[in-house]
Amino acid sequence: MKRGTTIYLYELAWILPSFAIPVGMLVALIVTAFGAGVHLVGVEGRIDPTKVGQTAPFDKPGLVEIAPGQYEVRMTAQIWTFAPNEIRVPAGSTVHFWATSKDVVHGLLIPRANVNVMLLPGQIAHAQARFDAPGEYPIICHEYCGIAHHTMAGKVIVEPRRTAEVAR
Ligand code: CUA
Repeated sequence: MKRGTTIYLYELAWILPSFAIPVGMLVALIVTAFGAGVHLVGVEGRIDPTKVGQTAPFDKPGLVEIAPGQYEVRMTAQIWTFAPNEIRVPAGSTVHFWATSKDVVHGLLIPRANVNVMLLPGQIAHAQARFDAPGEYPIICHEYCGIAHHTMAGKVIVEPRRTAEVAR
C-alpha cells in the first residue's frame, strides 16, 4: 500500500505541472493580449494604393505636433526614399508613425526605437515610439525593394530639451 501511494505521488507530481503550465501560459496570453494590449501590428486602414499621393494625410507627408510631447509622422515610402526622411523632435517625445507605400513593399525599421513594420501599398501601418535620449536614430527600409534598396534610409534626430521647455 505504501509503495502504491508513492507511485501515485510521483504521477501527481508530473500531472499537476502538465496542467498548470499550459493553463499558466494561456492566462499569460490572455492577460498580455487583452490586459496589456500586446498584439501584432495590424492593419490600421486601407487606402487606394494608386492614389496614396492624393489621399489625406499622405498627400502632405511630414511631422505634426498633436499634443505637447506627442508627434505624428505621416510617412510615405517609395523607391527609394521615405518622405519625410528626416524628423526632428525634442527628447522625451512620443512619435506616432502612420505610414504606407506608394509603389512596392517596403519596410520601416528604427532599430533603437523598437519600430518594425512592413509598408504595403495602400495599407496603413502604425507604430509608436518614445525618444528619451538625444541623438540620431536611423530609419531603415528592411524589405528588399529593388536595386537601390540599401540606400533607402532616413533618420530621427532627437534634440536635447532646452531649459525653457524643461521648466514648462
Ligand atoms: Cu524600400 Cu527596401
